[in-house]
Amino acid sequence: MSSRSTVILGTGSYAPERIVTNDDLAHMVETSDEWIRTRTGIRERRIAAPTETTSDMAVHAARNALADAGVAAQDIDLLIVATLTPDMPMPATACLVQPKLGVPTTAACFDVAAACSGFVYALDTACAMVGSGRYRKALVIGVEKLSAVIDWQDRTTCVLFGDGAGAVVVGASDQPDCGLLGTKLGTFGDGADLLYISHGGSLFPSTPESIVARNHCIRMKGKEVFKLAVRAMDEAARDILEQHHVRADQISLVIPHQANLRIIEAISEYLELPMERFFVNVDRYGNTSAASIPIALDEARRAGRIKPGDLTLLVAFGAGLTYGSALIRW
Ligand code: ACO
Repeated sequence: MSSRSTVILGTGSYAPERIVTNDDLAHMVETSDEWIRTRTGIRERRIAAPTETTSDMAVHAARNALADAGVAAQDIDLLIVATLTPDMPMPATACLVQPKLGVPTTAACFDVAAACSGFVYALDTACAMVGSGRYRKALVIGVEKLSAVIDWQDRTTCVLFGDGAGAVVVGASDQPDCGLLGTKLGTFGDGADLLYISHGGSLFPSTPESIVARNHCIRMKGKEVFKLAVRAMDEAARDILEQHHVRADQISLVIPHQANLRIIEAISEYLELPMERFFVNVDRYGNTSAASIPIALDEARRAGRIKPGDLTLLVAFGAGLTYGSALIRW
């Protein structure tokens, strides 16, 4: 546990301009607005311009978070980017974001790879590092350009995902019992084959044949992921509440990973917390993986749904299969 309280000083988000509706997708693959809406709750998603990179989107969200926090980029000494769609395999996207933002060269910059749980993992890492007293101010960004790794001919996946970015600024506080109260992270590595991109790594480097077969794109066993996601998110939420002796009804807002409305409804049922206590924007963005929770967090704050003293629960799952929850007092 960290020695000092670590608090979120500001939030920001960014969504690319282009909106792609379910009807637009119905022109590309055999699907319909009705199928997508009833199975997932998604109505539309944002898709980045071809020239707009993951690091570009990260910079937009980060600038908004810095402005909200009233913190200058020069004061950041830790920059963590959570993403599964880095600009390039090497260097880390955080290293490309750093000069664009004007974060000092003395700052530690690295990426976290935990797919859709990436933001919760990165937030936990940042809070531990700032809480230790060795870093002062951290920028944590969740960002994805999933449109670059979607198989646009596969209707079982292409309707689910979108692009975007969200960010938070983390700092220390002397006030006890505030900020990040705790996290619960975990992994079902046996489920690694349920959601993956097989090629482009060292096991299967990309070849002309693998590109033609679109093996650099996301593949998923949706039904199995669905079941494990509900179990993992429910457990992650319960564990952290128990650990901190908090009842579910003391949580004023749950910010779940936005993958599928039905998954969120199942968690609401399991926790016996009404859907009004869950922030939902999957209808407008689809699943933006590591960006989904920080975008939702920023929108929730801006909509006035988080007030000082409130308890907020973040809960995520993603490829790995990873999961994580975080309890925050504002
Ligand atoms: N349009 C129309 N029909 C479709 C589509 C589509 N886009 N996609 C699949 N279908 C068809 C299937 O082919 C199948 O047809 P069949 O019965 O003739 O074989 C039928 O619809 C039902 O398919 P299912 O896969 O059984 O549909 P299901 O109700 O399970 O919903 C879904 C699929 C939405 C993918 C669901 O399983 C799900 O949400 N799973 C979780 C996925 C998820 O959250 N992934 C993100 C993980 S986070 C990360 O790290 C990236």
